Amino acid sequence: MHLYGTQKINSKGRLEIGGTDTVALAGIYGTPLIVYDTELIRSRARAFKEAFAEEGVPAQVAYASKAFSCLAIYRLAEEEGLSLDVVSGGELFTAIRAGFPAERIHFHGNNKSREELRMAFDEGVGCIVADNFLEIGLIGELARNHSEPMDVLIRVTPGIEAHTHDYITTGQEDSKFGFDLNNGQADEALRLLTGMPGVRVLGLHCHIGSQIFDTEAFGLAAESLIRKMDAWKKESGFVCTVLNLGGGFGIRYTEDDHPLEPQEYVRSMIRTVKRMTEEAGYPLPEIWIEPGRSLVGDAGTTLYTAGSTKTVPDVRTYLAVDGGMSDNIRPALYGAEYSAALASRMDAAHDVRYTIAGKCCESGDKLIEEACLPETEEGDLIAVFCTGAYGYAMASNYNRLPRPAVVFAENGEHRPVIRRETYEDLIRLDAEPANVGKEGIR
Ligand code: LLP
Repeated sequence: MHLYGTQKINSKGRLEIGGTDTVALAGIYGTPLIVYDTELIRSRARAFKEAFAEEGVPAQVAYASKAFSCLAIYRLAEEEGLSLDVVSGGELFTAIRAGFPAERIHFHGNNKSREELRMAFDEGVGCIVADNFLEIGLIGELARNHSEPMDVLIRVTPGIEAHTHDYITTGQEDSKFGFDLNNGQADEALRLLTGMPGVRVLGLHCHIGSQIFDTEAFGLAAESLIRKMDAWKKESGFVCTVLNLGGGFGIRYTEDDHPLEPQEYVRSMIRTVKRMTEEAGYPLPEIWIEPGRSLVGDAGTTLYTAGSTKTVPDVRTYLAVDGGMSDNIRPALYGAEYSAALASRMDAAHDVRYTIAGKCCESGDKLIEEACLPETEEGDLIAVFCTGAYGYAMASNYNRLPRPAVVFAENGEHRPVIRRETYEDLIRLDAEPANVGKEGIR
């Protein structure tokens, strides 16, 4: 069994996270409960930052907060000196409310509204990552009427698409994001933006995919962006001072996943960027990256209480838990794989095969197709590992299940950072029918 970060098995044979017994946490907060090992998040953040510092390369490590967004995680990102990638007015609002310094916020999105862009200008975000021609027009309008200049990155699709070990390179990428690097769109974006008063173009951005386990695709992306930067310098003298290579660094969900350490990804990127820029006589740009999953993914564990079982003879035994696709849609949506353990009896042999099912009315609501656990009874506490990225962030109230509580656990202390939704929360946005009051039908 693989344990992550500060996880260990304590003297009672139970799973401990951040120095706290998970059975005790479930008793205090109820289940489903998402527990974050914040020490692991901090150590990852430091590993990324230090890898740049060791090479003396100016950098920004921006937490891609779509992976998990709430006030407390923004505070933690601020404490660790990270920058922030936000993709909506809602994420921006939450970050500002958390006291995150606006100048370290990068605003992404392929369809930012006028209102969202205005908000970004009013709050004074550090930069806007321009994604399309409509947005360029809106940025131009807002910048003209704004006292401070706005820094902008141009998001491009370099024609390299990477997922886990595979990547494909094409002349052109079929993506809804960004400007094509090779068909003139990116050049046109640069021409428009550099002609706008109040707009300062910092450089280029790309994000080539998710759960990437090697360095090759990042290197190829860096090379193609630098080639474009060099072409612009030769044509017009325009020099990019920032190269943002996005996120996508892989994590270990199951034993089949073999991610690299943060340092390895970063060192390899730096090598490529230095080599390419030295060859071209181009000034070394700042390198920015945007890890999401690799900062919070394996730091999150979801605790569920075991409920009903159903055996389909000679096929499988379903073991249902008190959550499911409502708090983790990734297995149903992407066929994502997870591993699990019996948090209340970690020291027992995990040798019985179960299919862990959720409680939503959907046959596809299965969290793990094949999990090995001890013989499990109603009330046992099940831990599903690596749920910290795109779990709570993509949660829903399907079947009117209240969303779980979230706690941070560190050094033997724990604190709630998102409270569990109540039934009252579920109806808070509903208009009350005329003849129904708080006590029901009058
Ligand atoms: N930067 C940009 C521009 C992105 O679009 C993303 C992710 C990231 C950074 C962070 O990527 P990460 O380091 O977390 O892989 N819901 C999917 C993942 C969608 C990722 C979208 N963009 C999932 O659950 O796997």
